[in-house]
Amino acid sequence: MDRYASIIGTGSYLPETVLTNFDLEKMVDTSDEWIRQRTGIVERRIAEDDIATSDLSVQAARLAIKKAQIDPLEIEMILVATVTPDTFFPSTACYVQKGIGAKKASAMDISAACAGFLYGLDLANGLIISGQYDTILVVGGEVFNKIVDWNDRNTCVLFGDGAGAAVVQSTEEPKGILASYIGSDGDYAADISLLGIPAGGSRMPVTSEAIDQNLNKIQMNGREVFKLGVRLMPEAAERALQKANVSVDDVDLLIPHQANLRIIEAVGQRLGVPREKVYVNVDKYGNTSAATVIIALDEAIQDGRAKPGDLILLVTFGAGLTWGSTLLRL
Ligand code: ACO
Repeated sequence: MDRYASIIGTGSYLPETVLTNFDLEKMVDTSDEWIRQRTGIVERRIAEDDIATSDLSVQAARLAIKKAQIDPLEIEMILVATVTPDTFFPSTACYVQKGIGAKKASAMDISAACAGFLYGLDLANGLIISGQYDTILVVGGEVFNKIVDWNDRNTCVLFGDGAGAAVVQSTEEPKGILASYIGSDGDYAADISLLGIPAGGSRMPVTSEAIDQNLNKIQMNGREVFKLGVRLMPEAAERALQKANVSVDDVDLLIPHQANLRIIEAVGQRLGVPREKVYVNVDKYGNTSAATVIIALDEAIQDGRAKPGDLILLVTFGAGLTWGSTLLRL
């Protein structure tokens, strides 16, 4: 009997505090007009100082578990995709485990930047269809406000905080994850100024000199990242479609990584997906990194844009470089 991995419940959680483009005008030399035109972002959510990634992730996970109508003790594994873990170790997944009372699960983090959630789904899919696991919780959660340089207008206008979660469970019905593809190219890791945080790891511990140079905060070459995203996401999306032998015309909803409206629109155009089939919420939340696609999927389910039986294509890319795509029958 064939086994499939189906998403049986999703949840998302955004902090209440809203930071608008007009708020940012008072912090750095920028304007609402510039940010809207270049990124499509209008506002983003910011977690309070005492809130960490696991706090947002636990809220999202509880909602997903409720939707899935399962007991947390049924969860056998917790995968948390994040580049803003609560601590280097223990893993954020262990904090989430405690927060939701999933005492029987194993728990670990996934570090694949903005592609992290789809890396988690890919792992969950493999572990479920191979018969090793039945129920896995996959979370994407970030508190980016703690790693953003709030004096750098090139980056601070782009990001936001949030979390999303999905309960993935085995089924014999041919639905759920129909195809999944992930990839990476570590050649791009050589130049950390492309996208990354130089200080804070074993290569360059945080010192007062590193802090003075803001090396413990995000560095990014926006123009290069933009070009890579526009090329890599359509390529990744095509791979999942080919694997499933499905035409893009059959896709009901495309959910690309929410980094920049211009990137999202370019990806839709390159794939030949009409604008009304492309999900956008970057205007409300900015780029929440590993959380964007699962927050968007959860919202799309809640607002009826994604219905049972629909074919959903998720695609993302991030630092590393990393990328991934998932074709899903809801
Ligand atoms: N407000 C006003 N002006 C600004 C701002 C700002 N917030 N930020 C940059 N500028 C200026 C620049 O200094 C530059 O000025 P100059 O011409 O005098 O030098 C000018 O605007 C144009 O800068 P560009 O970088 O050419 O602007 P671009 O159109 O490329 O937009 C942006 C910049 C929005 C960053 C875009 O390149 C982008 O979105 N890139 C992708 C970013 C992304 O997706 N990052 C996340 C990856 S996911 C992950 O793994 C975390």
